[in-house]
Amino acid sequence: MNIKNQTVLSLTLRESKRDSTQNVPLDEVTSWLNAQIAQTFQNALLETTSGDWQFTINAKGVPRLIAHKARTKTTPTRTHDRQKQRLLDDSAIAWLTALGLCDQRGNIRPSSSDKYYQLERYLEIVSHAVGDCGWSRGEQIHIVDMGCGKGYLTFGVWHLLNRTLNLTADVTGVEVRRELVDQANDIAQAVGANSLKFVTGDIASAKLDKIDGLIALHACNTATDDAIARGTHAGARLIIVSPCCHQELRPKLGRPTVLKPLLRHGLLEERFSEWLTDGLRALRLEEAGYATKVIEFVASEHTPRNLLITAVRKKASADTAPMTERIRALKAFFDLPDLASDRIIPR
Ligand SMILES: C[S@@+](CC[C@H](N)C(=O)[O-])C[C@H]1O[C@@H](n2cnc3c(N)ncnc32)[C@H](O)[C@@H]1O
Repeated sequence: MNIKNQTVLSLTLRESKRDSTQNVPLDEVTSWLNAQIAQTFQNALLETTSGDWQFTINAKGVPRLIAHKARTKTTPTRTHDRQKQRLLDDSAIAWLTALGLCDQRGNIRPSSSDKYYQLERYLEIVSHAVGDCGWSRGEQIHIVDMGCGKGYLTFGVWHLLNRTLNLTADVTGVEVRRELVDQANDIAQAVGANSLKFVTGDIASAKLDKIDGLIALHACNTATDDAIARGTHAGARLIIVSPCCHQELRPKLGRPTVLKPLLRHGLLEERFSEWLTDGLRALRLEEAGYATKVIEFVASEHTPRNLLITAVRKKASADTAPMTERIRALKAFFDLPDLASDRIIPR
C-alpha cells in the first residue's frame, strides 16, 4: 500500500490477545522476511495473482515449498482502508464463543489458543484445496466432517465456504456421541447457521446425502480409513484428513523378522507404523484417482498429530493397475494382511 508517497508492505501481526501493525518499506522487505521466516514463523503463505506459495518448516528444520493455484486473480487495491479478508471474520465470534474458544468479548481464550490455531491453519488449507476443486458460486455442494466432536472444524468450514468464499454449501458433522451432536445442533440454531447440521452416527454407516467434500480431523485410529472410504466410494471431489492414533499396523509390523532389530525401540515402532499407515492411505487415494499432498499443517508444539493428507479427485480417469501393483508389492514386502486402508478402493 501507499503511505505518504511511499510504497510499504503493511503487516498485521496477529497474536492471541491483540493485533499489531507494521509498515515495512519495500526495500527492507527482503531482510525483514529473512529475519522472520524460519526464526519467528514456521509457516508462510505468499498469495500472488499468478500462484500461491506455501512455505513450511518441520520440527527437524527441514523446509518445504508447496505451489498452489492462485486463490485470487484480482490485483488487490493499494489504498489504506481495505483490510485483507480474514478467513474467520467478526461474524464468527458468535459460534466461537458458544463453542468456548472465545470469551464474551471475542478474545481467544489462552487455554484454547492451540485449538484455534489448528482451526485457522486447517481452514487455510481447505480454502486452497477448495480453489483446486473449481466449485462455482451457486453450485450446491455438500461437505461432511467425520468424527466432528464438538464441531469446531465443522462450524469453521461452514463459515469459510458460505460466509468467506460465498459458496453455497450444506455442511454435516457426523459424530457418534449424541450429547455432542445435540449441543452442536443447538449452537447452529442459535447462530442462524441454517445449512449446518450434526447427525449422530458411525462414520462407516451414517446415512448421508451425496458427498462433494469430506474432512476429518483426528478421527480415531481406523475411523480415518472409514472416513476416506466414505469419500472415495461417494466420488467426493475433495478429501482432507488429519489422522489420529495409529493402532492397526503396530502389532503386525514384526512379521518380517528382518525388521525386528529396527523396531525393538517402541518409539521407532510407533513412528514407523504411522509412516507406513499414512503412506498407504495416500497411495490408496491415488489409486482411487486422487491427486494427493501430504503436509504438516501446524508445528508439532501445537499438536503432534499434525500430518495432513489432502486429495482432490482428478478429472480424467487414469489406469489404476500400476498403483494397485505397487501397493500389493509394498504390502508383500512388509508381510501385511488386509488393512482398513484397503477399503478406500471401491470394489
Ligand atoms: C479426537 S476427536 C476429534 C474431534 C474433532 N474432529 C476435532 O478435531 O475437534 C475424535 C472424535 O471422533 C469421534 N469418533 C471416533 N470414531 C468415530 C466413528 N467411528 N464414528 C463417528 N464418530 C467417531 C469421537 O467420538 C470423537 O468425538
